[in-house]
Amino acid sequence: MATAMLPFFLSLVSLCLINANGVNSFEKKMFNMQMLQKKQQLGTQGCLLPESKREYNSIILEMKDRGHCSEKKIDWTKRLQKQLILDELRVRSIQNRIRKISSSHNVEASQTQIPLASGVNLQTLNYIVTMGLDKQNMTVIVDTGSDLTWVQCEPCMSCYNQQGPVFKPSTSSSYQSVSCNSSTCQSLRLATGNTGACGRNPSTCNYEVNYGDGSYTNGDLVSGLMGLGRSKLSLVSQTIATFGGVFSYCLPTTEAAASGSLVMGNESSVFNNVTPISYTRMLTNPQLSSFYILNLTGMDVGGVALLAPSFGSGGIMIDSGTVITRLPSSVYKALKAEFLKQFSGFPPAPGFSILDTCFNLTGYDEVSIPTINMHFEDNAELNVDATGIFYMVKEDASQVCLAISSLSDPYDTAIIGNYQQRNQRVIYDTKQSKVGFAVEQCSFS
Ligand SMILES: *[C@@H]1O[C@H](CO)[C@@H](O)[C@H](O)[C@H]1NC(C)=O
Ligand SMILES: *[C@@H]1O[C@H](CO)[C@@H](O)[C@H](O)[C@H]1NC(C)=O
Ligand SMILES: *[C@@H]1O[C@H](CO)[C@@H](O)[C@H](O)[C@H]1NC(C)=O
Ligand SMILES: *[C@@H]1O[C@H](CO)[C@@H](O)[C@H](O)[C@H]1NC(C)=O
Ligand SMILES: *[C@@H]1O[C@H](CO)[C@@H](O)[C@H](O)[C@H]1NC(C)=O
Repeated sequence: MATAMLPFFLSLVSLCLINANGVNSFEKKMFNMQMLQKKQQLGTQGCLLPESKREYNSIILEMKDRGHCSEKKIDWTKRLQKQLILDELRVRSIQNRIRKISSSHNVEASQTQIPLASGVNLQTLNYIVTMGLDKQNMTVIVDTGSDLTWVQCEPCMSCYNQQGPVFKPSTSSSYQSVSCNSSTCQSLRLATGNTGACGRNPSTCNYEVNYGDGSYTNGDLVSGLMGLGRSKLSLVSQTIATFGGVFSYCLPTTEAAASGSLVMGNESSVFNNVTPISYTRMLTNPQLSSFYILNLTGMDVGGVALLAPSFGSGGIMIDSGTVITRLPSSVYKALKAEFLKQFSGFPPAPGFSILDTCFNLTGYDEVSIPTINMHFEDNAELNVDATGIFYMVKEDASQVCLAISSLSDPYDTAIIGNYQQRNQRVIYDTKQSKVGFAVEQCSFS
């Protein structure tokens, strides 16, 4: 097919021209649009719940994008629009939570109405695993931005519909309720921004988590379930004796057949990384103790280093639940300018939601796009995968956007979203306070 070959030749020609001029050739990656489109369309066939296995001292949980299990087939662009709106809600609630913590003492009573709590919005969190919970298999979403782990329990007073059975505490031999006086219950304040309170029954810790989309849980705090944040309430802290405070994941793409893994434990032999793991230290901000914050020292586009004053200051949060990376505006500006310079000759398209760098790639099956790398203190590096650079807004590729956005407020915290973490092994070593990155083609087997 003529259209299939054309872009390939185009990119070869332009590379040759650049070389012939004696100018540096930019680093590029191939991005295949048709493959993405076809695989997405297969999406609703068969919905197998993620599996798990045990190897050495680690537990490996298969990780899937939950989108492949949704029964409704809704319009592609509408779905993406909704995803970005919800993503923005999540980011807003994270920013609010950070502000609330940062100015803690004087806001307590007046701001308890802010509906954000653990910053979870069920619908944006797209990665699921199934974990065995006292012989019952529970499918849960994975979130490094939350500390609290929970499942819906019987009796359900206001449960949303869930796929599998609701957890039955009455048939569990290990279930225990947490008393409202315990230090665990007090830790809720850090984890959710709300005080764990004593209600009618002092043997239970009352808590409430609100969601921007109106769904919420309200009930007893169950001890011992999933939220991979950094505070002492999180699953990582609770299982430190078993897994050494180390977990890692490889986030797959949204293709139906794609799966990744969440490894609890420090067993690097089960990784399939193809580049060496590079580590960077976690920044410690006592006020933001439940988030993972890194020191972003630089970025490059196609091998060209970006210049921006905010590198090395402030810190960037790494989050599995935010979709689109939010960069400080000076960094985003530099990134956009360099990207447009290197990805030139393609017709522009209108912006979409929070994405403002878009192209009309109708007729191209494949394009070569500039690489994007993030650099961190200690020479750690995250090489963004080809599937994490463009966001296909329209199925016919007439609107394809750079999948990165700018922070709107200079006081907001930058965030590395899950779209840019695809096909990476990301290792969280909470004991040694470091995060590692390596390129990996995610798969469970
Ligand atoms: C839980 O899942 C495992 C496979 O991961 C399966 O072997 C087991 O039968 C399941 N248990 C229940 C109670 O469904
Ligand atoms: C819990 O708090 C109540 C009221 O403050 C107190 O009377 C009770 O002794 C406490 N229980 C424990 C186990 O600390
Ligand atoms: C995890 O494994 C890595 C590499 O084998 C090692 O450098 C690191 O110290 C380990 N971390 C812990 C907490 O054991
Ligand atoms: C980030 O790393 C750079 C380079 O090592 C260093 O100069 C800077 O102080 C660090 N920033 C923070 C917030 O620690
Ligand atoms: C995108 O480009 C194609 C081919 O160049 C053109 O036919 C189409 O009208 C454009 N679509 C939009 C929405 O601009």
